[in-house]
Amino acid sequence: MDKTFYITTPIYYVNDRPHLGHASTTVWADVQARYRRLIGQKTFFLTGLDEHGMKVQQAAEKQGVSPQQHCDEMARHFQELWKNLLISNDDFVRTTQERHKILVQKFLTELHQRGAIYKKTYHGWYSKIAEQFVTEKEMVDGKFPAHLGDVIELEEENYFFKMSEHQPWLVKYIQDHPDWIQPENRRNEIMSWLQKPLDDLCISRPRSRLSWGIPVPFDSNYVTYVWVDALVNYISIVGYGSNRLAEFWPADWHLIAKDILTTHAVYWPTMLHALDIEMPRHILAHGFWLKDGQKMSKSLGNVVNPQEYVAKYGADAFRYFLCRELQLSNDSDFTDNRFLQRFNADLANDLGNLANRSLSMIQRYRKGVVPDWGEKTASDDEIVEVARVSLADYHKHMEAIAYHSALEAVWKLISRANRYVDENAPWKLAKDPASSARLDTVLRMLAETTALLSHLIAPFMPTIAGKLEEQLNMKTLPPTLVPTPNFLPASHVIGKPEPLFPRQQVEAR
Ligand code: MSP
Repeated sequence: MDKTFYITTPIYYVNDRPHLGHASTTVWADVQARYRRLIGQKTFFLTGLDEHGMKVQQAAEKQGVSPQQHCDEMARHFQELWKNLLISNDDFVRTTQERHKILVQKFLTELHQRGAIYKKTYHGWYSKIAEQFVTEKEMVDGKFPAHLGDVIELEEENYFFKMSEHQPWLVKYIQDHPDWIQPENRRNEIMSWLQKPLDDLCISRPRSRLSWGIPVPFDSNYVTYVWVDALVNYISIVGYGSNRLAEFWPADWHLIAKDILTTHAVYWPTMLHALDIEMPRHILAHGFWLKDGQKMSKSLGNVVNPQEYVAKYGADAFRYFLCRELQLSNDSDFTDNRFLQRFNADLANDLGNLANRSLSMIQRYRKGVVPDWGEKTASDDEIVEVARVSLADYHKHMEAIAYHSALEAVWKLISRANRYVDENAPWKLAKDPASSARLDTVLRMLAETTALLSHLIAPFMPTIAGKLEEQLNMKTLPPTLVPTPNFLPASHVIGKPEPLFPRQQVEAR
């Protein structure tokens, strides 16, 4: 049996409402899942929520509700946003679910049985905000960095995973699998981090300090460290502990951002290695969104709420923007001006215009019937060649989750097609009966190109693609991504053309 293509997002903390950052990783994963389904691959797309830990316990206390009530309330916000953003996840994991909790316990039991876990008294520094022990190595100018918040001195008995034992193996694994951690700057970051000796990983918290967690199966005085709990979601939901796991695992992609690279590229692989479980195939850590050049933060009041954009411009345009602009290796800047520019230029103007004028001309000059090929010229060969190259590039970049480049390839074809309309001026051909055979070819070419485009944009803009397919009356046609000279059947009748995007009133500056 073929392995199912399996893609994951981070499971998000529920101490706050979802924002642009959460939305973009989830949209990225969704685009990949939709693409895989489109090319006929069996696909499983998992997202969800990380519901345990001190931050949730405190957030709930602040509001005077139980932690579970708080989680349920936040889960509604996330699920509503995913619905509005057309996220097509196959499951939604919440770490407070029984199905997950029992498998976290199984995971810990196995590590324990294999001798990979030991207990010791630890005296050191603890960051309450990060819920992590930190060491003096992390100090800058004799102080802990601000993002660690209050760092207290703590002496505590805890369970530790022998992470350090796996360091030589991990270094070699990264060396032998150059495309495992992507992009390259993140891979280098991990490699240089691994030049220092790895510590063992504290995987428990005394219940006296934190109660909102999964009990450690071999010692009820402790709960599981929230990161161990969270990482296990990637296998717990797809059949860890049963034969079903092999259908999904290894995950093809773990999508994350740069902030949580160490947990995914060091903690997770070493734990899997200790249990002889295969490595995920790729870990992709994209950059961060800034808003108007600044870090998004509640205190600055500049956190982008995706719901506002979806309500104003539609989910498709927002999804397009996130895929077109978010960069892999660097941070990207979200500005309203840039958003409007993309909306007007790429969507309303390039794509919207091409589709609308192509279909309108078929209506106007051929009563909605797509003509058969007539007379050909060199400009036809040229656009067919552009389509061929664009399509090959599109597949290559989609497979690599290089959306920016995949969309560039699609827009090359759109630009060429718009130029094709201008060069061939169908409105002139329509006036001259001797040019009728030429007009047939031009209209057929535009119908075929638009049909191909409706497929290419589908993973990014499912509603717009659906509208375009409806206008092309393609409902009955099998979905395919292979352009043939006759993608649409002979004498195909199209539907009614309607603008795909309203042009925004507020012009971009
Ligand atoms: N709960 C952990 C993840 C556990 S995964 C086993 C966590 N949650 S989080 O809510 O903080 O989400 C972090 C993720 O949110 C990032 O890795 C990224 O996917 C997304 N983003 C949050 N802010 C972001 C930006 N400003 N820009 C882009 N994405 C960012 O960490």
